[in-house]
Amino acid sequence: MTQSKRTVLIAGNWKMNNDLPEGAKLASELVQALPEIPSGVEVLVCPPTVELKFVGCHGGILSSSIKLGAQNVHWEPSGAYTGETSVAMLQSVEVSYCIIGHSERREYFHETDEDQNKKAKALVAGGIVPVFCCGEPEEVREAGTYIDYVCAQVKAGLLGLELSSPNQLVVAYEPIWAIGTGKTATADDAQEVCAAVRVQLAELFGQEMADGIRVLYGGSAKPGNIAELVAKPDVDGALVGGASLNARDFASMVLKAGA
Ligand code: PGA
Repeated sequence: MTQSKRTVLIAGNWKMNNDLPEGAKLASELVQALPEIPSGVEVLVCPPTVELKFVGCHGGILSSSIKLGAQNVHWEPSGAYTGETSVAMLQSVEVSYCIIGHSERREYFHETDEDQNKKAKALVAGGIVPVFCCGEPEEVREAGTYIDYVCAQVKAGLLGLELSSPNQLVVAYEPIWAIGTGKTATADDAQEVCAAVRVQLAELFGQEMADGIRVLYGGSAKPGNIAELVAKPDVDGALVGGASLNARDFASMVLKAGA
């Protein structure tokens, strides 16, 4: 399937930035900057958990065409898990996507592939689309074994997940050496790994499903490189950190992705 048949997703990962008024301001600036979203493009913002409700309502995201996403979830439905957030809690604030397996969570919070697998299953069962992140550290890139490394993460993280539609899952390839460093992978690097991820997805879910699942690139994606990235046949958008904190830059990425 060619890339034009999949809707491009430009997703902003705000990480742990902005307090409540700042988050709502950024959201309203974005809503204003994007009165119309180009056809064939979908836009998502993922604020910190505590800001989801406020950004969704006061920031105007829920009354716009921009989707609301979370940055983390716990797989258990409820219980003694201090500090955690359940799928039902995310549903109650109208979240439609949730990032899981980000390298920062894997590294700083010691999250495993097995954790991602449980999160992915709980989210899909609850009707929220996981944005499943994978990506290799610099030493793996240098050793040349990055395709095997990333495909192993995809397999372990998504094994046994049941999908009835490709729209129930998004994968984001984010090479760790490119996150927040200004070092973007080239569009050819991104294409190489996104295509390999799709082969792994076909092994897990069948070719037809894999052809419809969006595979994003993330890692210093910005207005200057987004067009080149999404022009690649297997790169279906971007997960954007730093550049998503500036409404003008993020809106410009959305417009360029649709051009
Ligand atoms: P960056 O972050 O765009 O700031 O590199 C991407 C991410 O971590 O999702």
